[in-house]
Amino acid sequence: QFSGFAQSAASCWSVWSVNLCCGLSDCPPLGLETLKIDDFQLHASTMQRYGLGAHRGRLNIQAGLYEDDLYDGGWCAGRNDPLQWFEVDARRLTKFTGVITQGRSSLWSSDWVTSYRVLVSNDSHTWVTLKNGSRDLLFIGNKEKEIPVLNTFPKSVVARYIRINPRSWYSGGSICMRVEILGCPMPDPNNYYHRRNEITTTDNLDFKHHSYKEMRQLMKVVNEMCPNITRIYNIGKSYNGQKLYAIEISDNPGEHELGEPEFRYTAGSHGNEVLGRELLLLLMQFLCQEYLSGNPRIRHLVEETRIHLLPSVNPDGHDKAAEAGSELSGWSLGRWSQDGLDIHHNFPDLNAILWEAESRKWVPRKFHNHHIPIPEWYLSKNATVAMETRALLGWMEKIPFVLGGNLQGGELVVTFSYDRTRPHGVMREATPTPDDPVFRWLAFSYASTHRLMTDAGRRVCHTQDFAKEDGTINGASWHTAAGSMNDFSYLHTNCFELSMYVGCDKFPHESELPEEWENNRESLIVFMEQVHRGIKGVVRDLQGRGIANAIISVEGINHDIRTAADGDYWRLLNPGEYRVTVRAEGYAMSSKVCEVGYAMGATRCSFTLTRSNLSRIKEIMEKFNKQPINLRHPPRRPRQRRLGT
Ligand SMILES: *[C@@H]1O[C@H](CO)[C@@H](O)[C@H](O)[C@H]1NC(C)=O
Ligand SMILES: *[C@@H]1O[C@H](CO)[C@@H](O)[C@H](O)[C@H]1NC(C)=O
Ligand SMILES: *[C@@H]1O[C@H](CO)[C@@H](O)[C@H](O)[C@H]1NC(C)=O
Ligand SMILES: *[C@@H]1O[C@H](CO)[C@@H](O)[C@H](O)[C@H]1NC(C)=O
Ligand SMILES: *[C@@H]1O[C@H](CO)[C@@H](O)[C@H](O)[C@H]1NC(C)=O
Repeated sequence: QFSGFAQSAASCWSVWSVNLCCGLSDCPPLGLETLKIDDFQLHASTMQRYGLGAHRGRLNIQAGLYEDDLYDGGWCAGRNDPLQWFEVDARRLTKFTGVITQGRSSLWSSDWVTSYRVLVSNDSHTWVTLKNGSRDLLFIGNKEKEIPVLNTFPKSVVARYIRINPRSWYSGGSICMRVEILGCPMPDPNNYYHRRNEITTTDNLDFKHHSYKEMRQLMKVVNEMCPNITRIYNIGKSYNGQKLYAIEISDNPGEHELGEPEFRYTAGSHGNEVLGRELLLLLMQFLCQEYLSGNPRIRHLVEETRIHLLPSVNPDGHDKAAEAGSELSGWSLGRWSQDGLDIHHNFPDLNAILWEAESRKWVPRKFHNHHIPIPEWYLSKNATVAMETRALLGWMEKIPFVLGGNLQGGELVVTFSYDRTRPHGVMREATPTPDDPVFRWLAFSYASTHRLMTDAGRRVCHTQDFAKEDGTINGASWHTAAGSMNDFSYLHTNCFELSMYVGCDKFPHESELPEEWENNRESLIVFMEQVHRGIKGVVRDLQGRGIANAIISVEGINHDIRTAADGDYWRLLNPGEYRVTVRAEGYAMSSKVCEVGYAMGATRCSFTLTRSNLSRIKEIMEKFNKQPINLRHPPRRPRQRRLGT
């Protein structure tokens, strides 16, 4: 059994080299979807209007919410005749091997191309039509607007420009398409664009897509390479019975150490958003390798933090998307759990409960501003809750997480709570939490260290430009949704949870993984380091025993957190001076000022609590067997008993 792992270990860790020109049959996408191909490389014969110009003719591009939007769902020709074309300038000689097409993304109209010819050119003046013998090749296109259709050429063809010439289209609509081109760039060392676009990585990691089995094997390989700092466990099962594996990375795996914060990354709750899953598998290998090689930053992180990585929250959905493949799974195949639920938005809506209590002025006297209980109905057997959501929920309640990130896909932005607007609020109204400044900082820490998120020159993925908030946005002001993991985590547990949308392309081609790793590596590490910001400490009694469940309040922030089982706590805060108050049942309240500096490392702010007078009286009463106490004449113990012993 073991040799299998050793073998896979050997292949996993073998030197990976960027191979631009692949085998004859499978060339990678040029990058219309990933935006590697820029707007100026796309041209068309005509367009209906600017929002439907050639620059929108990209595979999986999403339409804006409104008709006539500037950001519409594809390229649409200005006339419906067989003379129209859509053109891509690869800017270098390329071996073209195929075309993938979709119809227009739209809620209102139905437009797709049912057949097309393909032409190529080296100068964009003289065009050669792809032929089969003496006849022009006619490719069969789409049957509806969403499912991508791939046509591979019978023979590859070398050229710089490629055109798609629609010959027939759905009779109920117009000529509209979204396109990806498959091609291998020819070696061309003098080409300026080539050099500019090339990004390689020096990290020696396993850059490939992993099936469920391969993911498990890779975890095992890492566990065998770094047995002292890793542990594999699972948090439950998927609908199809696949275990939801997590790997823990910490200097004492398997144990919560007093004062050491717990961090989590999860990915793939939408099974078709595959990049996050691979990024976590890369991160796991990277942390192990760098720890072994003595990288001081990583050593420090691993020694001071208990890190949990759960790369595939929805393995069933991933299987579906992976079966169709990175280019043909479309926008939503495999998004949901096997039983059709959106795992990330399947948590109980505690926002509504808190806001209702607030409007009745119950908070904080009659109703806590944190640790809001899960409603009965949600826990009942017949609530429509995915098994995966229940597993996450159990995990979130069991481990005292302080900070978490869930990796999503299809955009380039970091979102933070709340994800839901208040009832009767305006659509897309920003809905801040009491910890808004901290959340903004956390989001910024990821976005600002990403290679693309805050790049002013970058083009928007689909319709929304997040540049004005530096690549971050309040979830509710993007698209409001109830029951998100982020809001649940904040309102039910101590953990601050954010969503990282790690790329425009939900399921990038394998050849994109080294570059995506480079794009995200620093962000992934920087965000983990933020778990050490703010204050932390232990709340103890006079005997030095930790007090669990003590409430830590910070003046001016209407959201408390609580101590974990051993009495330790972590409170994420931005630099500043804070009055911190601790309350625990049976103890006198205690308060002090704690200062958070700019340097990394949480400020220690511990408390020792004395029993409250009331609880002392209660204790005395219990000692005397709950009998009324006559303080002046305390009852004497019966003599007989003493004689008996
Ligand atoms: C090419 O033409 C031959 C003969 O007419 C036909 O059998 C074959 O299917 C054609 N191939 C394609 C890819 O259209
Ligand atoms: C473009 O130029 C290359 C290299 O000279 C040549 O191999 C190829 O056949 C040309 N393609 C077309 C369509 O003319
Ligand atoms: C694991 O820890 C032991 C004991 O400290 C040490 O001897 C061993 O070299 C470590 N193994 C690795 C792979 O770091
Ligand atoms: C669960 O289903 C039963 C039977 O359909 C129903 O009577 C009951 O009210 C449901 N429970 C909840 C909490 O919705
Ligand atoms: C407890 O009782 C003592 C003595 O009666 C009193 O001085 C003190 O203020 C009380 N403490 C609290 C927290 O009520």
